[in-house]
Amino acid sequence: MRGLFYERYGLEAIRLRDDLPLPAQPILSQVRIQVKAAGLNQADVKIAKGYVSMFTSIKVPGLDVAGEVVAIGPAVTRFKVGDSVYGSTDFRQGGTFAEVVLVDEQYLSHIPKGLSFSEAASIPLVSELALQALKAADVQPGESVLILGGSGGTGSAAIQLARAMGARVTATCSGGNSEFCKSLGADKTIDYTMENFGERAGEFDIVVDTVGKAEHFTQAKSALKRRGRFVSTAYDHDGPMSVGQIFVFAATIVYRLCSSFFSSISFSNVNASSSHILLEEISKFYSDGKFKPVIEAEYKLEQFREAFLRQESNRTRGKSVLVLTLN
Ligand SMILES: NC(=O)c1ccc[n+]([C@@H]2O[C@H](COP(=O)([O-])OP(=O)(O)OC[C@H]3O[C@@H](n4cnc5c(N)ncnc54)[C@H](OP(=O)(O)O)[C@@H]3O)[C@@H](O)[C@H]2O)c1
Repeated sequence: MRGLFYERYGLEAIRLRDDLPLPAQPILSQVRIQVKAAGLNQADVKIAKGYVSMFTSIKVPGLDVAGEVVAIGPAVTRFKVGDSVYGSTDFRQGGTFAEVVLVDEQYLSHIPKGLSFSEAASIPLVSELALQALKAADVQPGESVLILGGSGGTGSAAIQLARAMGARVTATCSGGNSEFCKSLGADKTIDYTMENFGERAGEFDIVVDTVGKAEHFTQAKSALKRRGRFVSTAYDHDGPMSVGQIFVFAATIVYRLCSSFFSSISFSNVNASSSHILLEEISKFYSDGKFKPVIEAEYKLEQFREAFLRQESNRTRGKSVLVLTLN
């Protein structure tokens, strides 16, 4: 089958091959999917560069997927051959940037009516993360939520979901993306290249940080109301996650927990965990007209290099998607 593959780390080492072995027949609760489209994530770039090689060593990249079920394991209960499904694989398994992939059914949901495969493939990982973050913040109708990085994959989902939960939404982005964030439901935007959001003293109930700059926590402490909530979904670090880096990350979490306790705010760190339950909630927001996929560009599989470089730039408006076609 055709698909992307790497034997060593580095974006330049990724190859498109047409001789990849087909995955085995599904066992237990595995679903075999004919991949139609696969969303790109920052995680795909970090994995391909070897930044998280302590945690995963996949050879065929890709986490998000949308496609058609072609076979099911004997324990699968929610899907049958021919169903259109979407979801995000476990990051230790990957494999969605290829024509056929095996995914456990716990990570999959039916594609809601009206969504194309490309649109569905753009949703899973970042939208599940955004929903988890807003749940961790316990967003209430009428509350004031600041989304840091509103124009990116996670941010564009977070703006829409916070709005759908009845919040008043402000987003940070660069100036050129202000109208884009407002089109997704942000009431206001802050151009982070011109203004430090920390100067908006006591303005927000919740700050969701999808960018992960070290200074964001200090700025958020001043921008939050008393008993405000700061939720981080990102850790901005360019380079391999060494044992030393993991200690720095753990120390940052401990510092933020202690500091938030003494500042009368709360702090939580959220990592994406793929789940059909979250996806079904997102599907419902879509069906109710409160959430839509946001695709900057679709790339053919042959254009993977361009797609990875754009993702690496950290400037994607919404999401990029690889579209797979059969030979
Ligand atoms: N914890 C997890 O499980 C998990 C899962 C997924 C992603 N992540 C992490 O979350 C981060 C974001 O991922 P993503 O997919 O949403 O990224 P993305 O789609 O590449 O978006 C990046 C966005 O960040 C904005 N940005 C860059 N610097 C900024 C700053 N100083 N202030 C405000 N906005 C800034 C850019 O906005 P402008 O273009 O408007 O400047 C861009 O839209 C990555 O570090 C990723 O690794 C973590």
